[in-house]
Amino acid sequence: MTFSRSIKIAPSILSADFANFGAECQAIEAQGADWVHVDVMDGHFVPNITFGPATCKAIRPHIKGVMDVHLMIAPVDAYLQAFAEAGADIITAHLEAGPHIHRTLQAIRGLGKKAGLALNPGTGTDSVAHLLDMVDLICVMTVNPGFGGQKFIHSQVDKVRTLRKMIGDRPIHIEIDGGVTVDTAPLVAAAGADVLVAGSAVFSGGSVANPAPYGENIRAIRAAAQAA
Ligand code: DX5
Ligand code: ZN
Repeated sequence: MTFSRSIKIAPSILSADFANFGAECQAIEAQGADWVHVDVMDGHFVPNITFGPATCKAIRPHIKGVMDVHLMIAPVDAYLQAFAEAGADIITAHLEAGPHIHRTLQAIRGLGKKAGLALNPGTGTDSVAHLLDMVDLICVMTVNPGFGGQKFIHSQVDKVRTLRKMIGDRPIHIEIDGGVTVDTAPLVAAAGADVLVAGSAVFSGGSVANPAPYGENIRAIRAAAQAA
């Protein structure tokens, strides 16, 4: 993975057909997705359950590019190795998932993976200052994690701007997760985000049998962000 700050669209398979993950991953990549965003939820850290490392391992062969695994689980450390072995390229853990995020980030890099740090909407940027040299990506949650299809929380745009300043010239991606649409993408792109996760806005109107709308949606979000 070479670092670039160009806009990347990362469809979240949370909005895909759960009985068809392999074909859905192939379809979104064929339609122009840059990364595949994989939302792991445990029913404890967030009020919803999705799937775990076995599913990640099963879909890995269907993804040619980057598998971006977003862990919404607590505790997290005991599961990092399993997600690394499942073939994740990026493993993102939440700052709020436990008292030892520093150790978690060290462990992710120790497994040879890119380390991501996710921040809930209610979390400030202060504690990130001490973690900047151990992260490859900061995921700014623009909804409260747990479900797709929620409304974008506008107060997070300032947080993105603050983080981009703090990052300076370090090779760190800022990823936006939640409520990304053609209307909100330009706001976060202008504030300094380069990875846009989108679930409902990418998958709406399409299917494995009719994937063209995925491509139209991806192109529309990318164009809106690039025009910012
Ligand atoms: C929320 C997940 C997101 C979300 C994105 O907990 O981390 O990836 O599903 O979905 P949309 O784009 O529909 O808000
Ligand atoms: Zn996510």
